Amino acid sequence: MSAFVIDWFNLFLRWFHLIVGIAWIGASFHFVWLDFSFRKRETMNPGVYGTSWLVHGGGFYHVEKYQVAPPSLPDDLHWFKWEAYLTFLSGFLLMVAQYYVNASSFLVDPQILVMTGPEAVVISLFLLFSGWVGYDFLCRSAIGRHTGWLAISVFALIVLEGVLFTHVFSGRGAFIHTGAMIGTMMTANVFRVIIPNQRLVTRDLLAGRDPDAELLRIGKQRSLHNNYLTLPVLLFMVSNHYGFLYNHPQAWAVIALIVLAGGLIRHFINRVDAGATPSSVFWTLPLAACGLMATIIITAPQSGSSGHRDVTDAEMMAIVGTHCSSCHAPKPRHEAFRDSGPPKGVLLDTVAHVRQNRQGVMTQSVQGRIMPLGNESKMTDEERATLGAWLAAR
Ligand code: HEC
Repeated sequence: MSAFVIDWFNLFLRWFHLIVGIAWIGASFHFVWLDFSFRKRETMNPGVYGTSWLVHGGGFYHVEKYQVAPPSLPDDLHWFKWEAYLTFLSGFLLMVAQYYVNASSFLVDPQILVMTGPEAVVISLFLLFSGWVGYDFLCRSAIGRHTGWLAISVFALIVLEGVLFTHVFSGRGAFIHTGAMIGTMMTANVFRVIIPNQRLVTRDLLAGRDPDAELLRIGKQRSLHNNYLTLPVLLFMVSNHYGFLYNHPQAWAVIALIVLAGGLIRHFINRVDAGATPSSVFWTLPLAACGLMATIIITAPQSGSSGHRDVTDAEMMAIVGTHCSSCHAPKPRHEAFRDSGPPKGVLLDTVAHVRQNRQGVMTQSVQGRIMPLGNESKMTDEERATLGAWLAAR
């Protein structure tokens, strides 16, 4: 019963996380688009840099953007920050509920690094925080003044952290950490830079002083970084459902290629929104496609490692009995699942049940190394191949 309640809590949290995440990323897409859409017109109010005309949902909108800021501000100025904060908070709670509570199963893979659950949690928090510190340092350093160099350095930083994650955590742990780290950078940009800078500018304006345009430039830079990171971060967030992404030694390269391809696609969209002809930025698309093709090639399953030896049911059941049925049985023996029943309702306690789940067993344990969860029982590659041969012959 308690597991049922926890599952509902998890689902509500995930639902909430999706809703606020969509609101945040939607606002990011909209404002970056809006920013590029301003045109100079014959009649504009003083201090206005450009205006944009929009039609949506049965109404026409006329938006002005100020060079720096208007001479005075109304009381009902709308801020956009809770989307970001709530996405981060709900994401962090999900991380706790899904990965920290059962860290020894979900974050630790003893074949990658032997550590306890609590150790994994401490390392996780440290690495997530270090990602933001490194990124913020790059932006504030001399490199931060050169967009191209900054882009390369931030990319290198994310890949470096990705390499680190794949050497510390389980495969899915490494990918969720890449997503969580990028998400943390994006939220911290809003919380530590964009909103505080905007607040200083607003305060100056209200006090009748000239605001510092540099503060706005920095805010704009961080906001654009967030925009470029939106596509990769979304893929990392759903990655744990696709074991082929991370269950191989080149998982770090997949991380690099996803960041690159996502960033390039976003660049294409942004340039076209800014008025560039699609042909002038078309180069980004074949490059992004090559990146994604390379990802597909890297993640392709290795076929037929041990030939088609005839494996008996008893041989297969011995492997499944050792590595799977402590969790996937009507009454799991594994302490983490004792009260909640077999995970996802998948039963692997009889030959008939294994046959019924053959597709899942193939992707999770033969082609991928996702199951047994955390590989606590240290399933060998040979056992995986034997299991694969049994499945292939049925
Ligand atoms: C320590 C407990 C544990 C062990 C041992 C274990 N599993 Fe699982 N299994 C889980 C959990 C937890 C899930 C649900 C994962 C999730 O929520 O993403 C799962 C899910 C699955 C699924 C469904 C995947 C999906 O996304 O629908 C399959 C298939 C599976 N396991 C097969 C196996 C096989 C085969 C073995 C043995 C080689 C095995 N499991 C060993 C805990 C375990």
